[in-house]
Amino acid sequence: MKRIGLLTSGGDAPGMNACIRAVVRTALYFGMDVYGIQRGYQGLIDDDMIPMQMRSVSNIVQRGGTMLMTARCLEMLTKDGQEKAVKTLKNRKIDGLVVIGGDGSFRGAKCLSEDYGIPTIGIPGTIDNDLAYTDYTLGFDTAVNTCLDVINKLRDTMTSHERISVVEVMGRHCGDIALYAGIASGAEIIIVPEVPIDMEDIIMRINRSRVDGKRSNIILLAEGVCTADEFSKRLQSVTAYSVRSTVIGHIQRGGSPTMADRMLAAQFGNKAVRLLNDGIGDRVVGIRKNEIIDMDIIEAVSMKKKFNYELYQTLQMISM
Ligand code: F6P
Repeated sequence: MKRIGLLTSGGDAPGMNACIRAVVRTALYFGMDVYGIQRGYQGLIDDDMIPMQMRSVSNIVQRGGTMLMTARCLEMLTKDGQEKAVKTLKNRKIDGLVVIGGDGSFRGAKCLSEDYGIPTIGIPGTIDNDLAYTDYTLGFDTAVNTCLDVINKLRDTMTSHERISVVEVMGRHCGDIALYAGIASGAEIIIVPEVPIDMEDIIMRINRSRVDGKRSNIILLAEGVCTADEFSKRLQSVTAYSVRSTVIGHIQRGGSPTMADRMLAAQFGNKAVRLLNDGIGDRVVGIRKNEIIDMDIIEAVSMKKKFNYELYQTLQMISM
C-alpha cells in the first residue's frame, strides 16, 4: 500500500488528534503518503484533502477536537455520495482509508469496503462508548473525567443547600457515561436507557439517605432517557427536597485527552496502519481485556452493545 487517506467523522471526541498523529507517523514510518481528508465523508465527496507530513501533526497530542474537522454527512448515505467518494479515492490513487468515528461513521466505512472494495480500517472514536465489539472507545475516558469535574462542583453547592441535583450526560442511546461517571463520582442514583425507571425506588433511596444524614443527592441521567428538566419536574412533584437540573452538554466533547485516551489513540492509530501495511482492510480496531484487537468490520457493525448490569448493581450497592 503506497498512499492512504484519513478522516474523522461524526461527533468529535478527545483523543482524535492524538490518533491522527499516530496514523500519520506510522504511515510515514512505512514510507506511505498520507492525505488528511477534511470534514469527514463530506471532504471525501468534495475532494477536500491535504497531504500530511511529520510536522503536520506536531503539538496536537494534547489537544481536544480534531484538526481535520468533522461532520455528519447525510450525502454519504446515498448511492450518489458513495460513488463520488470512491471516485475521489481512485483519482487521488488512495489505496487504503482510515476512518476515526462512531457507529454512523463505521457504516460508511463498511459500505466503502463491502460494496466498493476499498481497504478500510475503522477506529472507534466517540465519547458514547456505544460500540459492542470494543470495551472502550476513544474519548470516553476523557468525557467521563469531565463529567466528574462538574459533578464534584455540583456536590459542593447541592450539599450547602441540601438539594437534589439531576445531571444530564450525553451518550445517545447508551448509558455508559452515566454508569461510569455515576460510580466514580459517588452519585446516589443513575438513570439509563437500559434499565426502566423505578420512581418508588428512587424516592426510597433519597429518603433513606436523608434519614441517614446525607445532605445532598446526585442523580445522573443519560440523555437517552429524557431531559434533565423533564425528570426534575417529575421528581419535584413527588419530593419535598429542592431539585435543580444541570445539562453538561458539549463540554463533555472537548478538552485535553486523558492518559488513557492518549494511549488508546496511539495504539489504535498504529494498529490501523500496520493492518493496511500488511495488505489487510475491512477491519475495525478496538480493545478487549486490555489487549488491542481487530475484527471484521461487517461483524463489528452488526453486534449489539450489552449493558454492564454488574456495574449497575455495584453502584446500587455502594452509592447511598
Ligand atoms: O455521539 C456523540 C454525541 O455527543 C452524543 O453523545 C450526542 O447525543 C450527540 O453526539 C450530539 O450531537 P451534536 O453535537 O450534533 O449535537
